[in-house]
Amino acid sequence: MLQPSRRDALKLLGGGAAALVMMPSMSGAKEGAGTSFKLVAQPVQHKLHPAPDAQESTLWSYNGQVTAPTLRIKQGERVTIEFTNALPEPTSIHWHGLRIANEMDGVSGLTQDPVPPGGRFTYEFVAPDAGTYWYHAHHKSWEQVARGLYGGLIVEPADGSILPEAQDHLLIIDDWRLDGEGKFDAASLGAPMDWSHGGRMGNWLTVNGQSLPTISLPKNAPTRLRLVNASNSRILDIDPARFGGKILAFDGQALPDAPMELGYTPLLLGPAQRVDLLVEPEEDFVLEELSQQPFAFCSFEVRNPAQEVAAFTVPKPNKLPLPAKDDRFKFDLRMTGGAMGQLDNIYYQGEKLDRGGFQRTKQFWAFNNVANLAEEPLFSVKRGQTVELNVSNITAFMHAMHVHGHHFLIEDRDGGGVEQSPLWRDTFLVGAEQSTRIAFVADNPGKWLFHCHMLEHAASGMNAWFEVTD
Ligand code: C2O
Ligand code: CU
Repeated sequence: MLQPSRRDALKLLGGGAAALVMMPSMSGAKEGAGTSFKLVAQPVQHKLHPAPDAQESTLWSYNGQVTAPTLRIKQGERVTIEFTNALPEPTSIHWHGLRIANEMDGVSGLTQDPVPPGGRFTYEFVAPDAGTYWYHAHHKSWEQVARGLYGGLIVEPADGSILPEAQDHLLIIDDWRLDGEGKFDAASLGAPMDWSHGGRMGNWLTVNGQSLPTISLPKNAPTRLRLVNASNSRILDIDPARFGGKILAFDGQALPDAPMELGYTPLLLGPAQRVDLLVEPEEDFVLEELSQQPFAFCSFEVRNPAQEVAAFTVPKPNKLPLPAKDDRFKFDLRMTGGAMGQLDNIYYQGEKLDRGGFQRTKQFWAFNNVANLAEEPLFSVKRGQTVELNVSNITAFMHAMHVHGHHFLIEDRDGGGVEQSPLWRDTFLVGAEQSTRIAFVADNPGKWLFHCHMLEHAASGMNAWFEVTD
C-alpha cells in the first residue's frame, strides 16, 4: 500500500450548506512583527456559523482572535513569546513541528508545568527550519484545541525569499461541532463514544475561523497556499489537481522535487498535518472536502493583480539529519484498542482493564498494551542515534501519529515502499490494519512526546514519550 488508505467510515459533514449565505471576503489571520510576541489565552465570543440566526459561541483564543495571530518568524532567529494565561484553567503552548529545545516544547506535565490561570510563561526558541507550522494548546488539548486555542506559525527562510502577502495565504482549517443553534457544542466535549471511536468529529468547517470565506487571488500569479488541519480528529480529503495545485511541502518541509504534481487522489490531510500548495489560477475555484459529498468550504476569486506580481522561488528543502542505514535502534510499536478493536491485554497505571475499567478510566487505546504511558519512556536513546519505528495499527481506525521535536522519514508502508522519497513529516497517517516504518536521528536531547494527533485518542491512551539523553 503506497499511501495510507481510509477504511473507517466518516460521518457526513454538516448538511444544510446549500441553504447558507456566503460570507463576505475575509482577511487572512493577522500577523505580528519582529521577533518578540505577546500571546494571551482568553475567552472570546465568536460566530462560527453564517446563518443569520446562528448564535455566537464562547470560544478560547489567543489575543481574542479566532484563529489566533499568525506568528511570522525567521529561520535561525531567536524568538521570544511572552505568554499570559487569562483562561479559567491551566494551559501551555506547543510549537508543532519546530525542532526546538525540549524545555520550550510546551507539553504540560512533561516539559513544563502548565501555566495556571493568571500565570505567565516566556517561550524562547530558534526555529531551524523554514516552512509552515502551527502552535496550539498542549494541556487537555482535546478540549483546549477544540475550543479554538491554535494559530499559524510561518518560518521564513533565512535567504529572505518570500512572496508578497497577496501571493501567500495561510489557511487553517478546523472542524467544529455545532449544536442546533449554530453554537460550539461544549456539552459533548469528552464524550466516551468519541474517544473510543474516531475522535470528536464536527459538523462545520472554518478557515481561519471564518465560515465559507472567499479569498482574492491574483490571476495567473504563482501563489502559495499553506493548508493546516487544526481539527481535533477529522482527516480532510483534498484534491489539489482540481484547481491545478502542486505540492511544495509537507509538514513544513519543502520537497526536493517541488513543485510536484500529486500522482494520486485524494490527498489525506490528517489532524496537525500541513501541505503547501502552489497555484497559478486562471479562474475562480473552490477548496473542497471530499470524504463524502464534495463540500466546498473555501472559495477563491481570481482577479487581475492589483500590483506587480512577484516571481516565485521554489522553497529549498531544509537540512535535516539523514537516518543511518545500519546503526539503528529499532522499536516495534503495536497500536491496539478502540471500538471494534482488540481490547484484551490493555494496562493502565498497572491495572489490566476490563469492560468496566475502560469506561471508568476512559482509556481505550494502547501502545504495546499500555494506555497512556506516563511514568517511563517508551525507549531511551543517546543523542545522535538513528531510531527506526515500526508502527502497526491493529485497530479499526486510521491514526495521525506525531513525533515531537523531530521530523522523520517515512520509509515504508505495508512493505510496498512510499509514493515518494525522501518524504519528511512530523505527523503520519497510518490506516486501519496497516503498518508504517519511519526513521529519524534522535538529535535533540530531552523528553519527547509521541502520540496520536486525534486528540481524543491521545487523551484516551495513544500517548507516550521517548527520551534522548546527552
Ligand atoms: Cu501538535 Cu503533541 O502536538
Ligand atoms: Cu488515533
